[in-house]
Amino acid sequence: MDQRVARVIRAVIGQRHANSDERNPQLNGIRKFSRDGHTLYHGDCNDVFSSEIADGSVDLIFADPPYNIGKRFANFTDKWTTDAVYADWCKTWLDSCIAKLSPIGSMYVMTSTQCMPYLDLYLRDRISIVSRIVWHYDSSGVQAKQKYGSLYEPILFCAKDPNNYTFNTEDILVEARTGAKRKLVDYRKPVPAAYSTTKVPGNVWFIPRVRFRMPEYEDHPSQKPEALLERIILASSNPNDLILDPFAGAFTTCAVADRLKRRSIGIERELDYVKIGLRRLEVCDELDGERLRPPDKVYKRRNANGARIPEPADQPRLF
Ligand SMILES: C[S@@+](CC[C@H](N)C(=O)[O-])C[C@H]1O[C@@H](n2cnc3c(N)ncnc32)[C@H](O)[C@@H]1O
Repeated sequence: MDQRVARVIRAVIGQRHANSDERNPQLNGIRKFSRDGHTLYHGDCNDVFSSEIADGSVDLIFADPPYNIGKRFANFTDKWTTDAVYADWCKTWLDSCIAKLSPIGSMYVMTSTQCMPYLDLYLRDRISIVSRIVWHYDSSGVQAKQKYGSLYEPILFCAKDPNNYTFNTEDILVEARTGAKRKLVDYRKPVPAAYSTTKVPGNVWFIPRVRFRMPEYEDHPSQKPEALLERIILASSNPNDLILDPFAGAFTTCAVADRLKRRSIGIERELDYVKIGLRRLEVCDELDGERLRPPDKVYKRRNANGARIPEPADQPRLF
């Protein structure tokens, strides 16, 4: 049955709770939820790796761990004692990721600009780094006054076999901008012809960050844009492939995988974010008696002191 039809039927008959949660004692405290080719785990990725995912079984991994920059998440702050200690923690799950990848699988790894060199040096001895990508975005706010503000995040694109990996160029073509007003002609060709108007993206990707007012916004401090995952998934996987996200956060990877008809596994340690995933993937709309609701998107404007500016509707009427 078409997944969308199945979803509509589930929504109509209201069956989106209870039976999707497998409370299996053998899962060692890990909770597992599934729906139509998507599996969501509530637990530490290292525990899930060792008990739940077979080696060589995954086609694509998107790993977006905490960055070691002191950002506040639901129940922790992502700061390790030193960069080296953080790198050691990363090495453990990176080794597992490499083991889980199929022989022709690919992996995209993100972290902060300051920590990426540790991971790059480690990975280049264990897997082929095919591209070093810069995800660039802009910000309307002041980033820094005494230095250049940070407006990019690095992404490593790695392949287990540099001579054999999925890369669907036709699915990710972008407009080729030459800056010229008229079409440029390539006179080097035997028969001169206009340059192609599309091209494979380079390794600097301008994609806006997820902002509060965007429909895809979820209440997560480090949510990645769907457009970023869409390019990665289209390029490096095929329909029905299995995609793994060991740090699922708001489960963006799984949501985009679902839309693009891939299968997915998402692992997340914080229950608040697992709830986002369960709702976003339409696995269930209730967990442990709690209704899973989308974020409250009532936008409250504030002045420079943080005080709420009344919206026109709640300003006192003069007459
Ligand atoms: C950078 S965020 C991922 C954001 C995600 N890519 C998205 O688009 O929403 C990292 C996530 O990893 C989770 N996390 C941290 N340590 C973990 C671990 N050991 N196992 C599983 N998840 C973990 C955090 O709670 C956080 O939600």
